Amino acid sequence: MSLISHIITSPLSKGEAITLNMETLIDKAAKIRKNAYVPYSSFPVGAAVLTKGGKVYTGCNIENAAYPVSCCAERVAIFKAISNGETSFQAIAVIGDTERPIPPCGSCRQVMSEFFDKQTTIHLANLNGQTETLSMETLLPFSFQPKDLNSTN
Ligand code: THU
Repeated sequence: MSLISHIITSPLSKGEAITLNMETLIDKAAKIRKNAYVPYSSFPVGAAVLTKGGKVYTGCNIENAAYPVSCCAERVAIFKAISNGETSFQAIAVIGDTERPIPPCGSCRQVMSEFFDKQTTIHLANLNGQTETLSMETLLPFSFQPKDLNSTN
């Protein structure tokens, strides 16, 4: 994959453009993956979400002895961003030791669809250097949306 094949650009308030390529975002996800707390699954995952303003928030999966309380890497990264006041995102990268680029779980897809645009870029990766890039809409089509809560029929 060429370094310029996935350049992400975004305007800053100053009018400058911030660029961050896919490889850099995946590298950040791979680095935080080392902090995963996974005593039950031994399956560390890393994620890095890029805001439209050019900031990156990273997350790893954090498990719990009460298994369902565990949280995936993607949600940790997104919740860190949201709790810091971020509201708009251009991309996320996720990496795990999977045979194919890691597919996010259904819960994380739903959380992504709450905060991401249909066109937000999703980079999925594995430790062999394989990647898959798709849009939010492709990752979770026909998703339940906030506007559906107002539906009366
Ligand atoms: N996991 C993630 O963090 N992200 C994914 O995309 C798939 C699964 C975590 C949840 C759990 O801690 C471990 O991987 C095994 O399912």
